[in-house]
Amino acid sequence: MSFELKDRDALGRIGILETKHGKVETPVLMPVINPKIQTITIKKLVENFKAKMLITNSYIIYKDPKLRETALNKGVHRLLEFNGPLMTDSGSFQLYMYGDVQVDPIEIVMFQRDIGSDIGVILDIFREPDVPREQVKADIEETLRRAKLSIKEKGDMLLAVTVQGGKYLELREWCAKEMAKLDADIYPIGGVVPLMENYRFRELVEVIMTVKQHLPPSKPIHLFGCGHPMLFALAVLLGCDMFDSASYSKYAMDNRLMFPTGTHHLDNLEYLPCSCPICTKYDVSDLREMSKEERIEKLAEHNLYVSFEEIRRIKQAIREGNLWELVEMRIRNHPNLLDAYRTLKKYVDIFERYDPIFKRSAFFYTGSESLNRSEPYRYTKRLIERYTRPQQASILLLLPDKGAKPYTKYYGNLLRKISEKKLTHIHVAFLTVFGVVPIELEEIYPIQQSVTPTILDKDTISYVKTCVEEYIAKNIYDQVFYLKGENDFDLAIKKCSDKLKINILDDISSLLESVSKFSSSGRNEVLEKLQRVADYQFGKGAGKILFKEGEISWKRSKETGKIRYIYRDNQLLLSLIPSSGLFTLTIKAAKILLEHFKTPRLRVIVNEDAEPFIKRGRSVFSKFVVDNDPEIRPGDEVIIVNKKDEILAVGRAVLAGVELLSFRRGVAVKTRKSV
Ligand code: GUN
Ligand code: ZN
Repeated sequence: MSFELKDRDALGRIGILETKHGKVETPVLMPVINPKIQTITIKKLVENFKAKMLITNSYIIYKDPKLRETALNKGVHRLLEFNGPLMTDSGSFQLYMYGDVQVDPIEIVMFQRDIGSDIGVILDIFREPDVPREQVKADIEETLRRAKLSIKEKGDMLLAVTVQGGKYLELREWCAKEMAKLDADIYPIGGVVPLMENYRFRELVEVIMTVKQHLPPSKPIHLFGCGHPMLFALAVLLGCDMFDSASYSKYAMDNRLMFPTGTHHLDNLEYLPCSCPICTKYDVSDLREMSKEERIEKLAEHNLYVSFEEIRRIKQAIREGNLWELVEMRIRNHPNLLDAYRTLKKYVDIFERYDPIFKRSAFFYTGSESLNRSEPYRYTKRLIERYTRPQQASILLLLPDKGAKPYTKYYGNLLRKISEKKLTHIHVAFLTVFGVVPIELEEIYPIQQSVTPTILDKDTISYVKTCVEEYIAKNIYDQVFYLKGENDFDLAIKKCSDKLKINILDDISSLLESVSKFSSSGRNEVLEKLQRVADYQFGKGAGKILFKEGEISWKRSKETGKIRYIYRDNQLLLSLIPSSGLFTLTIKAAKILLEHFKTPRLRVIVNEDAEPFIKRGRSVFSKFVVDNDPEIRPGDEVIIVNKKDEILAVGRAVLAGVELLSFRRGVAVKTRKSV
């Protein structure tokens, strides 16, 4: 089995799945083909809709003597006259719909193998999500038994083993853990059609997140029966890679048009809010007046156009790093989707493990839910765990976000005065929707690279207030001042000013006068910043060992005036990337970090076979990785070492620490510099 990642965002990914009939890029939408009746012909699916992969039902073929014989003799690809990757389902859905199937569970797997299916599915037991727990448990036991036996018979077919468990999360977890132990190729999440049909999206999200965290990260996840474009973005965000759609034709039969924003019945439409080839050629009355057969075909085509369009939109969002933003648009289309999205707060630490540390797109705040995403969570976590204030600066001056960035530029005059008056005991930090941002961390993703409002809702005010409390509890100051912003940040401060003894200033002059009589010692603000960014990025203590007073020098960008290169002993030590505010490593810096951080921290450890390649500057393929720091995040700078902890190279991680040992294909680390 081969599955490798090309790009990623949140838990979503663009992957390449290799099958006997070629490679497909995921997320992939497989239209369901009924071998007996085709609403849209396979030829059309391939030529007009560019469908890359199809799914059909092997049980229907198995039950029909003629189809069965052709499939066994010529193969299922020739039966359908389709030469691309083809998945076959097993009959579980028929079991769900009609209560029984007349086929031996292992025989149907062997049948799928024998007709040359690229991906077969076990005959999992699929029932309504609300059947009693005991029944679900017994069903899982039987499904697991079948999965184990089916694996032995899969031959060169990829095998999908479905995770069931109804609405019971603990049973879902158990089933996922047991399935994860098997040598399966694809992991569908099954039994969720009733949840989707009844708009039980919150439970759907809980099921997906529960299952996803216990399955191997290197295996594709298929969300069985999910064919509505309204759900694709959210499902991809949670890590689903494959979808199948019979909905495009089922909805058409009911005169329903699907959109990424929801469903419209033809009876209720006066206008067609779509510009697909169908909706530009016909208007509502044309569609109504068609023969039933023709109308079904046209509506099915519309449904397919918008479904494939949404998949492409999602992939583009992953490329740009704004999948969260796309999902935040989609979840406004139904309160149950909003509810589902709000549930994700519970799982933020899982998202944080996989979400890249910086993205091509800015962080767009689209509502208070945005603050439950992994980027703000990671920022606060690192701020609290890794940041310490400059020691000499015992007075905190908090300056609110006024909607203009960079903050240091907006507050340029004030900062200049503080500097001219040598008020080195004042430590400046900004108050933003992300909470307290010490001046040293202003440029780090997503702080600088964000677009956020200054008119705040109650939830955001309360979020900001909590952040202030946490920050001040962690970083003790002699005094805290806040300069009024005449905006909603004032409300957040008012909520905690009494408890935290924050002095609220109408203007800054009194502070500048009153504290100028304090004695002060010199501060090196560049050093303070470099050290704190390093701590934030690599871990506490990194800053002090990398940057020592008097030993380092730096070069600024001629255009922006920002620090770009840092030298030690006249050799380049680190570069500061303007778009992320983070460092890239050199071998010199890596050596220093390795001495301080014990193995496996910051490391990707590779076997002997990889050494010569990596030393020549080649990227690290995941199959060479023997161990690594589990705390690595995609996009992190890492140090590539051999088993003797000797440095081979430095580079940027493509995979997360928790994925590195799971993937056996594709690039794990992009090498930047080798020894
Ligand atoms: N199609 C829709 N849901 C399911 C499921 O749970 N299992 C299988 N095998 N097929 C499905
Ligand atoms: Zn249309």
